Amino acid sequence: MTQKLFVTTALPYANAGFHIGHMMEYIQADIWVRFQRMRGAQVNFVCADDAHGAPIMIAAERAGKTPQAFVAEIAAGRKQYLDGFHIGFDNWHSTDAPENHQLAREIYLALRKNELIDVRTIEQFFDPVKGMFLPDRYIKGECPNCGTKDQYGDNCENCGAVYLPTDLKHPYSALSGARPELRTSEHYFFRLSDPRCVEYLQNWTQDGKLQPEVANKVREWFALDEHGVIRLGDWDISRDAPYFGIEIPDAPGKYFYVWLDAPVGYLASLKNLFHKRGEDFEAYLADPQLRQVHFIGKDIVTFHTLFWPAMLHFSGRKVPDNVYVHGFITVGGDKMSKSRGTGISPLRYLELGLDAQWLRYYIAAKLNARVEDIDFNPEDFVARVNADLVGKYINIASRAAGFLTKRFDGRLAADVGVEGRALLDGLRAHGATVQQLYDEREFGKAVREIMLLADRVNEYVDQHKPWELAKRDDRRDALHDVCTVCIEAFRVLTIYLKPILPALAARVEAFLNVGPLDFADAQRALGSHRIGAYQHLMQRVDPDKLEALFEAPAAPATPAAAPGGEALAPQIGIDDFAKVDLRIAQIVVAEAVPGSSKLLKLTLDVGEGRHRTVFSGIKSAYTPEQLTGKFTVVVANLAPRNMKFGVSEGMVLAASHADEKQHPGLYVLEPWPGATPGLRVR
Ligand code: MSP
Ligand code: ZN
Repeated sequence: MTQKLFVTTALPYANAGFHIGHMMEYIQADIWVRFQRMRGAQVNFVCADDAHGAPIMIAAERAGKTPQAFVAEIAAGRKQYLDGFHIGFDNWHSTDAPENHQLAREIYLALRKNELIDVRTIEQFFDPVKGMFLPDRYIKGECPNCGTKDQYGDNCENCGAVYLPTDLKHPYSALSGARPELRTSEHYFFRLSDPRCVEYLQNWTQDGKLQPEVANKVREWFALDEHGVIRLGDWDISRDAPYFGIEIPDAPGKYFYVWLDAPVGYLASLKNLFHKRGEDFEAYLADPQLRQVHFIGKDIVTFHTLFWPAMLHFSGRKVPDNVYVHGFITVGGDKMSKSRGTGISPLRYLELGLDAQWLRYYIAAKLNARVEDIDFNPEDFVARVNADLVGKYINIASRAAGFLTKRFDGRLAADVGVEGRALLDGLRAHGATVQQLYDEREFGKAVREIMLLADRVNEYVDQHKPWELAKRDDRRDALHDVCTVCIEAFRVLTIYLKPILPALAARVEAFLNVGPLDFADAQRALGSHRIGAYQHLMQRVDPDKLEALFEAPAAPATPAAAPGGEALAPQIGIDDFAKVDLRIAQIVVAEAVPGSSKLLKLTLDVGEGRHRTVFSGIKSAYTPEQLTGKFTVVVANLAPRNMKFGVSEGMVLAASHADEKQHPGLYVLEPWPGATPGLRVR
């Protein structure tokens, strides 16, 4: 029977473009969906923008736009990422769309009817200047524990203490700077602590729908606290106006908290898709065969394994069948952070002409079914793509296709010899394992399995040496046989890789002169068949381009008044400055870095009785000879950074214009004579 699947990825906040973390989630889900379709499943794969909430409202206000216009602009930017990385959503919608307003209200009313909604008065900080209640993250003040200034309302970055916003000393609003006032307000609560909910969720979370480690984590929420009460508390689902969201029925001025209507957006997007197709949405969801699957990251597990199934179940709706949780992707071991400029921009990746399928392949090769973080490592990326994907797989076709076209008019041999048949049977026999690995989201294992098969094919080619057979007229049949085996093997491997490399597979289909390949096709031979002319299928990664990916993109044009091409950074106090430990350093050795057009490797004496290595992007301005022996200033307490060529233990100071292309010139700082290594600059 045909499998019916409703698959989603988390709805991204509509306040920025995508980062590589988003792309990783979409790639994971897209590979899984493509795989399911290739074995005959009927899939609806949808997503949407998560449009509501205070941060988006505030960002829109800062940008001088209505929240609607703000999120519409973000939405308009989504397509380039999705098309660029071959993410095949069937629909992209918004949580601010009418379907979502309606569905969220329906679900809420059903919960209310079920006596699961409470109204309670709570005390909360109110910003008298902005005229609004402040979300915790917009309240700052002094840590009640250690007194550090400018800490957020939930925990201290300095001492790690966890507290309530009301515990802060000298609290102020991060929006207006005003001193917030405590005010009371009526809030709406979803009574998750109701025994019906607790019992239902205890079952739902522990009956095999979740990965074991996720189920274990979730179990902690049902543990008893020191008072013998289950820790699962009621959930505050309302926010007061002004708020960008959905107004709560019969509660003027009250809005659903963004996380109440966000997952409803899964249904809204599906409903919108069905409406466009003229199909019956409710009937589809009522189908007992339908399997509903959500792909999400590890940071949003509680919303998807407690609140969301409870909302659905107690409003009489279908609940998810699986929630598949993935870990986070880091780049070069660094957590992504926009402010620090690490991480790689998916759009820049495409602009540089890097093939999206390389990233899909690389991410697939690293993924498994567990909640593990994965790291994007540039050298590893180059090695896997060039050595495995191109070196092992693509090569099979390029080694055989030319002979077939030139010598045999593109015709495959109708039959191949015993050895070739054994090889092909071997590849086909692994089809079931490969499918099982895809189904279980063990993509890394699937890729390894497929590459081992590619190794076998390459061994076969090396043994039979078609390039030597081609020199001998008496071995024409053998040549035909070997090349046919290669093309058949290549076709089987292409099928196995197709969920990961959809655009490449389409090119292969054109070259092989066959229709869209699915998993069943791996089990049949093409037999006597004429292939098309070989066209170049995939390039190797150029490491220089990859390096360019890690450079900060050119700064946008700035007004002429901005000195040096960039506006001054926000004001800081002397305490902030004191955090940066600047020291005099002597450049003991300066040398070129093989393979890098930008960097020099500096060996520095910072008066520590040992030498430091610093990689510095100053090769365009200085020769190693000019620098050796000179004194300069180094940021000495910068966290060591893993770079492509080694660890860099600091940063040498240099001046440059923000727009280096228009205003070239790079000037390393040099102290006045007499300064010695290790002296602090203050
Ligand atoms: N809007 C909410 C989700 C609502 S779902 C009804 C949200 N948005 S988000 O934009 O912050 O994150 C979207 C998805 O990206 C989440 O699943 C999140 O876990 C994932 N990722 C964010 N950073 C990530 C990485 N660094 N690596 C992998 N996935 C990450 O949360
Ligand atoms: Zn503190």
